[in-house]
Parts: sequence; C-alpha cells; structure tokens
Amino acid sequence: MSSGQLEGKVAIITGAGGGIGRITALVLAREGACVTVAEINESLGQETVAQVTHAGGQSLFVRTDISQEADVRAMIAATVEKFGGLDILVNNAAAGSPKDQDILSMDVEVWDYVMLVNTRGPMLGCKHAIPEMLKRGGGAIVNIASGSALTGQLGLPAYSAAKAATISLTRSVATLYGQQGIRCNAIAPGLIMHGRLAPVFPAEHLQIDAENVLTPYQGTPDDIAKAVVFLASDNARFINAHVLPVDGGLLAHTPTFAQARALGQQRVAYDAPPA
Ligand SMILES: NC(=O)c1ccc[n+]([C@@H]2O[C@H](COP(=O)([O-])OP(=O)(O)OC[C@H]3O[C@@H](n4cnc5c(N)ncnc54)[C@H](O)[C@@H]3O)[C@@H](O)[C@H]2O)c1
Repeated sequence: MSSGQLEGKVAIITGAGGGIGRITALVLAREGACVTVAEINESLGQETVAQVTHAGGQSLFVRTDISQEADVRAMIAATVEKFGGLDILVNNAAAGSPKDQDILSMDVEVWDYVMLVNTRGPMLGCKHAIPEMLKRGGGAIVNIASGSALTGQLGLPAYSAAKAATISLTRSVATLYGQQGIRCNAIAPGLIMHGRLAPVFPAEHLQIDAENVLTPYQGTPDDIAKAVVFLASDNARFINAHVLPVDGGLLAHTPTFAQARALGQQRVAYDAPPA
C-alpha cells in the first residue's frame, strides 16, 4: 500500500540488483518516485527494473560501476534525460572481499578495492548528483553505511573503515550544501538477511545477532527501505547530517547484554542491602 510520500520525485539507487537495494527500489517506486536502477550487474539490474515496472512503477536501468566517474556522470545524465531532473540519490552499492579479514594479512590491493568502491563511489554520486538537485532547489541523499562503521569488528577492517568514511562524507555534504537545500543522511543497518546472504551466512552468527538485538525479530530489507523513504521524503525536512542506525537497537546497549541475560540478570545491584 502506498501513501505517495515521494510522488513526483526522481530517485537513483545504486546497487539495486538485489538485497536491500532491490527492495528499496520497489518501495521508492511504490511511494511514487521514478527510479533509476544503477547497477554493475546488468542482468540483476534489469530484473529489478522489470519488477518495478510490473508493480506499476516507472524505472530505468543504467549499467553503472560507481567507482568510475564516467559511469556516474552517465548515470545522472541518463536519469535527467529520462525523468527530467533528480531529487533523491541513494548510495547503496557496496563491495567487500573475503580477504578483508585482518590488518596483519591485509593486501593493499584488497584495501584499495574496498575503499575504491565504498568511498569513492558514494563521493562520485554526491559530486554529480548535487548540481542537478540544486537546479530543483535541493534534494535528499541517503548513504547506506553500516553498523560496522560505528564499532570495532572481528574482521572487515577495510569495509568498516570505508563505511566510517561514508558517514564522514555524509556530514561534509550536509555541511557544505545544507543551506542550499541538500539533505544528506546516512543509515547504519544492522544485520539484514536476504536471498543472496542467507545461503552463505553462518547460522551461529544469526543466533548471536538474534540474542543481541532489542527486538523479538531480525531486520529485513524492507526495514531499511522504509527508513530510506522517510529520510528521502519531506517528512524528514529538518533532519540533516544524521546517522540513523536501523539495527533493532543492537548498538544501544552494553556489549555484555546477551551474557547477562543468559545469566538471568535484570540489573546488577552494586550496593549491598543494609544488614
Ligand atoms: N545486508 C546487511 O546485513 C548489511 C549490513 C550493513 C550494511 N549493509 C549495506 O547495505 C547496502 C546493501 O547491502 P546488501 O546486503 O543488499 O548488499 P549486496 O552485496 O547484496 O548488494 C550490493 C549490490 O551492489 C552491486 N555493486 C557492487 N559493486 C558495484 C559497483 N562498483 N557499482 C555498482 N554496483 C555495484 C552488486 O552487484 C549488488 O547488486 C550496502 O551498502 C551494504 O554495505 C548491509
């Protein structure tokens, strides 16, 4: 069911060939936006466009490698040509590496690749989207970061650093262009299972996540999509440079939460009762 929060808006979402991106493209279109699907994988991107169109939305596929400036420039140009302008950019595409495990074993090629896609990509998106948004008096950028940017992780050092850079980029863009009508916010998702991740994600880790979120269920791509719509819409008109965790409260509590709960402790009493 649509409430038309984005009626008349033009949006681009990168990396919308599956997972969070595809669902977000569908939800953006359901809310009334015309949606460009910018994806490095042509068949996955075309499938998303087919699903949006089938659901009654308007969509365009542009094969895009977000790390390449010519591609990003062409992504913006094709969108403006097809839909007449640009209001919303969702920097969602990301890439990782199975070799992004530890600092001591880090190949500089792995570090550079993860940084290239995950930091240069969103920067290029902002660089080329903002001038088009300014022509319409402003716009909204939503950068998909990660909870990994906000805490230390046992692994993923390059990915985590890149996502932290995305948060910093978010604040820079909002600071530089906020008074000209550009809102730039970030979402920090927690673990979000979807079709591509489910077969490869270890069940024990899912269980650990379930024990530590502050909800009786885990997050879905739809949870991220709804947060994107909110931040992209005029309902969030006074929200800028914000980082919104969408993680079931995972980062809000003491790291010993799950163990304490397993011991049945509600709270620790530090003061001995009077004798
Ligand atoms: N799924 C999670 O648990 C989770 C948690 C925290 C943050 N995130 C973030 O949410 C976003 C979406 O996550 P996801 O799980 O759906 O990811 P995913 O890996 O399933 O999808 C990413 C998409 O980006 C595309 N892509 C990769 N490199 C690209 C490039 N250079 N140019 C254009 N497209 C490219 C891929 O083809 C893929 O379709 C990412 O930014 C990710 O870092 C996800």
